Amino acid sequence: MNPLVSIRDLSVSYPGRGTASALKHINLDIHHGETVGLVGESGCGKTTLALALMGMLPPGCAWQGEISIAGQQVDFYQQAGRASARDQCAMIFQNPQTSLNPVIAIGRQIIRIIRRRGGLEKQPTQQRLAEVLSLVELPAECSKLYPHELSGGMQQRVLLAMALARQANILIADEPTTALDASTRMQILALLNRLQQQQNLAVLLISHDLSAIARVCRQVLILYQGRVVEQAPQELIFRQPRHPYSAGLLAAIPKIHRRRPDKLLSLPGDASLEAVTSGCAFAPRCSRRDVYCEQQLPPLNCALDLQQRFACFNPRPIQGGLK
Ligand SMILES: Nc1ncnc2c1ncn2[C@@H]1O[C@H](COP(=O)(O)OP(=O)(O)OP(=O)(O)O)[C@@H](O)[C@H]1O
Ligand SMILES: [Mg+2]
Repeated sequence: MNPLVSIRDLSVSYPGRGTASALKHINLDIHHGETVGLVGESGCGKTTLALALMGMLPPGCAWQGEISIAGQQVDFYQQAGRASARDQCAMIFQNPQTSLNPVIAIGRQIIRIIRRRGGLEKQPTQQRLAEVLSLVELPAECSKLYPHELSGGMQQRVLLAMALARQANILIADEPTTALDASTRMQILALLNRLQQQQNLAVLLISHDLSAIARVCRQVLILYQGRVVEQAPQELIFRQPRHPYSAGLLAAIPKIHRRRPDKLLSLPGDASLEAVTSGCAFAPRCSRRDVYCEQQLPPLNCALDLQQRFACFNPRPIQGGLK
């Protein structure tokens, strides 16, 4: 089956950043209904990948490679109002308030989207509005409210309703729960899961929060300085991370259920783009590095089972995976 999203050898550099690329040679397929998690520390290029998919890279970016969505090539510098591959995508952000117009009631904001997608008759539009609000578990009366009258969780639900109104096939969620409290976060993740299954949505979930990724995503990509360093089904990444960076991210999760919680681990050093070496970008911080790591770039190789791919000359042995 043809993938819904196909990213081929995508590299992106922002203006004024010299040779430091925000994304380097990314390849990724996302199929209808597939859930993909994108993880990595701040500045590794997660949002840049989302913006590239939406055709929303800022002017002046240099890019190479190709993205197609439902067979249509993405125009990286999208012109407003033009029908395009972007119509297949909806994106929700960390801070939902900034994505909503503060002076228009949310019902009207959703109706605008419904009208743009067709259905000009008043009745069907109102029906569709009620339908998308109920799908995201918001009462119909909410349609009269303005964004400032809603909580952060409700605003995020409104953005999900807008994604449904757009009839998007892929939802890109960039840190959708970071600004929410713990219980609202769980509710939004549960809703995201339910909508994904009911509507057969493909989801690209970007998060620092590995527990959110574990709840929603089947495939996981770990990015480091703009490069994919590990890609595998979620259960493999969590059970037996092969790349030392993936293992470091997992080891940094606090284990509060233990009687005497472990000391919180952190990776030494930082991941600034400018600190690029000719070899593996993670080598300066890696306890498993050898002389090759600093000289040659490890390719993203398949493990024997073909499901797990990692870019490392000295991967962690399988038996040593985290429990
Ligand atoms: N508009 C911009 N101009 C110049 N550099 C940028 C711009 N936007 C992002 N960058 C740089 O590109 C790199 C990737 O940024 P990006 O926002 O994609 O990271 P991220 O993984 O989403 O980080 P975070 O987790 O903090 O959101 C960073 O080094 C960042 O400083
Ligand atoms: Mg980001």
